[in-house]
Amino acid sequence: MKTILELLTEKTAAAFEAAGYDSALGRVTVSNRPDLCEYQCNGAMAGAKQYKKAPFAIAQEVAEKLLECDAFSSVEALPPGFLNLKIKEDFLSSYLLDCAKSEKMGLNLPDSALKIIIDYGGPNVAKPLHVGHLRSAVIGEAVKRLCRFCGHEVIGDIHLGDWGLQMGLIIHELSLRKPELPYFDPAFDGEYPAEAPFTLSELEEIYPAASAKSKEDEEYKAAAMNATYRLQHGDRGCLALWQHIMNLSKTDLKKNYDKLNVSFELWNGESDVDSLIPALIERLDATGLLYESEGAKVIDVKEESDTKEMPPCMILKSDGASLYATTDLATLVMRMDETDPDRIIYVVDKRQQMHFDQVFRVAKKTGIVPEKTELKFIGFGTMNGKDGKAFKTREGGVMRLETLLGDIKDTMRKKMEENKNASDKDAGYDIDETAQMVSVAALKYADLSNQATKDYVFDMDRFTSFEGNTGPYILYTMVRIKSILKRWQDETGGDPASAILKGARSPQEKDIQMRLAGFNAMMAGAYEELAPHRICAYIYELADSFNSFYHDTKIMAEDNKDVQSGWIALLYLSLKVFESCIDVLGFEAPDRM
Ligand code: ARG
Repeated sequence: MKTILELLTEKTAAAFEAAGYDSALGRVTVSNRPDLCEYQCNGAMAGAKQYKKAPFAIAQEVAEKLLECDAFSSVEALPPGFLNLKIKEDFLSSYLLDCAKSEKMGLNLPDSALKIIIDYGGPNVAKPLHVGHLRSAVIGEAVKRLCRFCGHEVIGDIHLGDWGLQMGLIIHELSLRKPELPYFDPAFDGEYPAEAPFTLSELEEIYPAASAKSKEDEEYKAAAMNATYRLQHGDRGCLALWQHIMNLSKTDLKKNYDKLNVSFELWNGESDVDSLIPALIERLDATGLLYESEGAKVIDVKEESDTKEMPPCMILKSDGASLYATTDLATLVMRMDETDPDRIIYVVDKRQQMHFDQVFRVAKKTGIVPEKTELKFIGFGTMNGKDGKAFKTREGGVMRLETLLGDIKDTMRKKMEENKNASDKDAGYDIDETAQMVSVAALKYADLSNQATKDYVFDMDRFTSFEGNTGPYILYTMVRIKSILKRWQDETGGDPASAILKGARSPQEKDIQMRLAGFNAMMAGAYEELAPHRICAYIYELADSFNSFYHDTKIMAEDNKDVQSGWIALLYLSLKVFESCIDVLGFEAPDRM
């Protein structure tokens, strides 16, 4: 389906042509002066040079032709040469009816879906999930759903950090605490216990303790590195312990991601590509690009157009150990082999930009990733505290995601209790469940409404407010719509899905219709830029439009039932659009709050 702007542009283009001008001048945009008009066309200004004619004269001639078309209720030529346009109410509502009939509100789906892998989440096993990984999960999930909504085939891969020093630290610390365990007995050749020799909370205490010790004690660190080495070189006991850590950790991660409405199709990690590294090194060697530098093996990635420093990409350390880039390259080998995607999108902290620049360049230069596959890095900024520094607990420690979510939920619940009116005490209303739902929306919306690359400040009061550009405001608006629809249904016995949209009767109503008509173009644009914040901006405006309509319109008191059912159709369509949008953003709306 064409977008509303494409349709209007067609009309204007035809009018330019009929007046003897180039039809390409007829491009229509949404007005940047909504107080004066709804849409505008500045083609006459551009045409002035080409036709050596006053732009105003051109605009006047085109305006005359345009009056004959069925799309505009008012066409005004204004000096120096603008065309100010207002759309006909019928034209708008009939466009919306067409959108409503199509599967995705008139969004065009691709002829053939792209295969896309999204690498996001990226938690490190055995370290508690903290707010640093929050943004990757929230933005990555939204980008995944956005690509899917736009008709693509998308696989989300969590890419666990499950093979590094943190594992060696835990194994070494355990060997000091429980040396009697069979995992540490080289002579042991029986079966290891099925039960882990530690609980999750022990595990969570072990890692920070071990990490702190290794920073102070060289010998301790060397032993942890040795445990890492043994793990990566097939030591049975280390591997069995590693498996226990993985099982406990993954279960806990899943629980946390579930709460956030985040899920992954693939739970691969760095460990899964370890076995591919020797062949990767051979392959890189065969290209002749791999060379030795100060004992390490590296590949040059500098390009002439670089404006910032671009050091060679380190592939192997001088002791032969692999690095972060090595596992990422091996992961690319695996992804090309298994999935052969058209695009791979990484959603990672923007401070890792250089790493990904290097990895992408090596992958392309060496042919690991063919020309046709796009590698895309979405780097996000930091969530800061009010002091402008990275968000911390009151004690200055790293805030666990679980604690953060719990705090938001408590705040949300309190606010909801204060807001509560008598009818909310009905059966079937679970305030706890609702608070959970709204708090996820509060947190995710706060994150997603910012451009990903920007840092943002965590502000509990603002995020949980029912007013302003917040998740709760959006949900509150949706709940309001749901409750009107329900009342109408109860009172009339009608089905909102069969109510028929009418031409708008007020500027407020028209405003909502114009916004709904812009949904398909907005979504296509959000996908183009992989920018969930555009969806947030859109629903915020839609919510404002709806609320101003609501304040000026007595929907339920309307005597003319035909008019009333037209409004119900408008509300129903708005709700559908809101729902599609928040589903892409990755949260849900309750029926009441
Ligand atoms: N585990 C990494 C970290 O915590 C993030 C992984 C990002 N993805 C990747 N393919 N490198 O920094």
